[in-house]
Amino acid sequence: MTSRQRFLAACAGQVVDRPPVWIMRQAGRYLPEYRDLKSKHGFLGMVKTPALAAEVSLQPLRRFALDAAILFSDILVIPEALGQAYQFRDQGGIAMERRLETRADIAALADAAAVPERLQYVAQALRLLHGELKGERALLGFGGSPWTLATYMVEGGSSEDFIRIKTLFYTERATFEALLEKLTDALIAYFRLQIEAGADAIQIFDSWGGIVAGPDYEAASLQWIRRIVAALPPAFPLILYAKDTAAHHVLQAGAGIRVLSVDWTADLAALHDRLAAARIPAALQGNLDPVLLNTTPEVVRRATARLLESMRGRAGHIVNLGHGILPQARIDCVEALVNTVTAWK
Ligand code: CP3
Repeated sequence: MTSRQRFLAACAGQVVDRPPVWIMRQAGRYLPEYRDLKSKHGFLGMVKTPALAAEVSLQPLRRFALDAAILFSDILVIPEALGQAYQFRDQGGIAMERRLETRADIAALADAAAVPERLQYVAQALRLLHGELKGERALLGFGGSPWTLATYMVEGGSSEDFIRIKTLFYTERATFEALLEKLTDALIAYFRLQIEAGADAIQIFDSWGGIVAGPDYEAASLQWIRRIVAALPPAFPLILYAKDTAAHHVLQAGAGIRVLSVDWTADLAALHDRLAAARIPAALQGNLDPVLLNTTPEVVRRATARLLESMRGRAGHIVNLGHGILPQARIDCVEALVNTVTAWK
């Protein structure tokens, strides 16, 4: 069984020899070869040059026996393709070139139909990766959820309190919906492009779903994700990354996605039982604490074995962290994680 077959079988909830494994943000600052390339080309230079994006995506696969590669890119390529560029703040975090405030600002964004042409560099990077992987390892595409992207666009970058996006949601619902509809259409076009270019699965990052008031989660975030699910080929493996949204796990898993990726606060086996009881066939991805990879290989081996043991005999598990790997992660700890999974019996 190839890694790609193992990955797709796990997405489909089938029994496999051992759970597949990949790591969110597996191409990143903890790798010296990533820092090296970034010092020469810059983050955006790497994202926008297909050969470099493909190279960065492959770097972690050369070191570790990962079952999947993820496209090297960013969720913010969508706002950029719609006409709102992004950059990184010196102190960390994102700064958008301006902030969306009025209905006119939203109307001035490009049409969603412009997205595939403007993001040809992503399609090219995926095609290069598809060729390099030779069907042996799975190839993942990704994008932000409409809600998560809207937070950056309305806040004007990273935010601490999310007052602007929430105020828009509470007081100007029609304007909010005009923006979310545009983002949803843009993401549907973008994901179709990724599928045509060879993505085996796509992960939707609802990274800021957890800041929404509980009763508003459906209206603010999940309904737009449902529209994306409905517009893509039936049974295409969509993974929904849910951070800080434990209250909505069953709702999310039942939204038509194939895999729910959960943060480290959840008990994965207990969630597996809850989904089984509700007859929801979604697989689960996760969910080790990223900070484990900053500790020691021995600590990582124990935590990984505990997770694997708790999921023993349960079909539909993809091992991952509960959020992206941190820049301070130790390479021997990443090795310990991946090797514990690949040696698991
Ligand atoms: O998983 C992977 O390896 C694929 C690459 C990937 C990146 N960003 C590359 C990246 C993925 C899947 C993303 C998604 C992303 N981008 C999300 C959702 C995932 C999550 O973490 O919840 C979000 C919210 C963003 C927006 C973004 N891009 C942020 C908040 C940052 C960090 C800014 C900071 O403070 O430095 C980025 C930059 C970014 N995107 C980096 C990488 C590897 C770090 C850039 C660097 O090298 O300095």
